[in-house]
Amino acid sequence: MGLVVAHLLLASVMFFSIGSAEMSSKVGVCYGQLGNNLPSPQESVELMIKSLKATRVKIYDANPKILKALKNTDIQVSIMVPNEIINNISLSSQSLSDQWVRTNVLPYLPGTKIRYLLVGNEILSLPDKSIWPNLVPAMRKIRKSLKTLGARKIKVGTPSAMDVLQSSFPPSNGTFRSDISESVMRPMLHFLNRTKSFFFVDAYTFFPWSSDPKNIHLDYALLESTNITYTDPVTKLTYTNLFDQMLDAVVFAMKKLGYPDIRIFIAETGWPNGGDYDQIGANIYNAATYNRNIVKKLTAKPAIGTPARPGWVLPSFIFALYNENQKPGPGTERHFGLLYPNGSHVYEIDLSGNAPEKEYGPLPKPTNNEPYKGKIWCVAAKVANTTALSSALSYACSQGNKTCDPIQPGKPCAKPGSLVWKASYAFSSYWSQFRKLGGTCYFNGLATQTIKDPSHGSCKFPSVTL
Ligand SMILES: *[C@@H]1O[C@H](CO)[C@@H](O)[C@H](O)[C@H]1NC(C)=O
Ligand SMILES: *[C@@H]1O[C@H](CO)[C@@H](O)[C@H](O)[C@H]1NC(C)=O
Ligand SMILES: *[C@@H]1O[C@H](CO)[C@@H](O)[C@H](O)[C@H]1NC(C)=O
Ligand SMILES: *[C@@H]1O[C@H](CO)[C@@H](O)[C@H](O)[C@H]1NC(C)=O
Ligand SMILES: *[C@@H]1O[C@H](CO)[C@@H](O)[C@H](O)[C@H]1NC(C)=O
Ligand SMILES: *[C@@H]1O[C@H](CO)[C@@H](O)[C@H](O)[C@H]1NC(C)=O
Ligand SMILES: *[C@@H]1O[C@H](CO)[C@@H](O)[C@H](O)[C@H]1NC(C)=O
Repeated sequence: MGLVVAHLLLASVMFFSIGSAEMSSKVGVCYGQLGNNLPSPQESVELMIKSLKATRVKIYDANPKILKALKNTDIQVSIMVPNEIINNISLSSQSLSDQWVRTNVLPYLPGTKIRYLLVGNEILSLPDKSIWPNLVPAMRKIRKSLKTLGARKIKVGTPSAMDVLQSSFPPSNGTFRSDISESVMRPMLHFLNRTKSFFFVDAYTFFPWSSDPKNIHLDYALLESTNITYTDPVTKLTYTNLFDQMLDAVVFAMKKLGYPDIRIFIAETGWPNGGDYDQIGANIYNAATYNRNIVKKLTAKPAIGTPARPGWVLPSFIFALYNENQKPGPGTERHFGLLYPNGSHVYEIDLSGNAPEKEYGPLPKPTNNEPYKGKIWCVAAKVANTTALSSALSYACSQGNKTCDPIQPGKPCAKPGSLVWKASYAFSSYWSQFRKLGGTCYFNGLATQTIKDPSHGSCKFPSVTL
């Protein structure tokens, strides 16, 4: 090999590695803060770097304490314009957007490496449709502010949940919902393409799998299968996991609107390490398996991509840094963390993808990979604020049919009559009527599911039977 050729090769190798380092296959973490027991921002940043080896973080606001704690670290940061101000930013003059950027972005540059600015969170999944038409105009205004105020390198986007798709199966049939396709998605894709930004998507295989575990193999959802494949009848592309299928559905939906080249950024993915009795597959074993497989796939060099986009880099954030005890909804919502609030690992994981997997210790065997069969009750949590518990009791009793009749004086459940007893009865009674209508056993953290029958003597607590 001649010297010149060698130099050229070296130059091209260097160029390539710099180019791919810029948008490298790094895995970051989502730093949600909906917990009343979480470490400080300073401690959290230490944990991200030392415990998780994260090189990116996404926050759901522009919290000054967090942005300061990230100063002079190598972590690339994604911040968010809150949902509540999108209408105002869209509808008022450019100056409101300028002001937001001046207050929430500029003071932290360049020390804090803010690289992405997401406008709202899953706006197109909100029932409040009045924000939808303001989303893209707000994105444009924010981008203009960044440009004029000297921060043009920050990419502007917005995270979409998978329900922006009307159809995602087979992947080639990926189509945006008809209520947003022309009005929101087309102008959004135009904006993302013009500004060389990303389509940010929240993609969880857990949700489609857990709602249809009979037809989707768990291993296919966990990226663990070696022999299950699905071939798209139209494209003939062969899929080996559900994650690729979901992403390619987005790729084909974008293509249908004339945008085949917009890059995808995984704004959230993950798997819950715990949940309620009526939820399937939420456990440490599956969470560790999924997240380790995702890290392996997304940090592979050269990049793997998806069947429709082989070799494409997929930058990503795993949800989430911590189990967050104040997230509403079913139990899984409070169990997506890589870390417990005390900072210890729920299971070993290394987001850099460098840890040899052989060195990981054994995982607890999963016990809920099959649907639970039996009765479940909803009772007051052990430690509960009594003021809040009384209001929740009144609320539960005011809902449904004869919900609290049996705890009235003289009725079989009137005794022992303590607040916790009455609330437990009311929660069980409420939940047994409302679960099929989407009601949850949560009551702001005051209630929890149990499979131990709380009934006593002639007082039978209503239950949910699965
Ligand atoms: C939006 O603007 C209106 C009118 O100026 C103001 O009253 C309201 O407080 C603003 N909302 C938010 C969330 O800033
Ligand atoms: C493709 O998507 C459409 C809706 O956009 C749906 O009606 C149709 O059933 C899907 N095709 C297949 C083969 O699933
Ligand atoms: C998307 O951007 C590319 C590169 O800038 C450009 O060539 C292409 O025409 C754009 N596509 C559309 C549909 O605007
Ligand atoms: C895949 O392999 C597993 C374990 O070897 C086996 O139990 C399963 O039946 C196989 N599935 C298919 C679709 O071949
Ligand atoms: C941290 O919290 C978890 C879950 O509550 C617990 O299992 C673990 O022992 C705690 N670790 C330390 C070091 O306190
Ligand atoms: C208890 O709940 C009430 C009403 O929800 C609230 O105002 C109060 O601050 C709470 N007390 C404590 C100690 O959390
Ligand atoms: C209460 O009873 C009415 C009439 O029987 C019924 O239509 C309604 O669905 C019941 N509500 C609940 C929450 O079960």
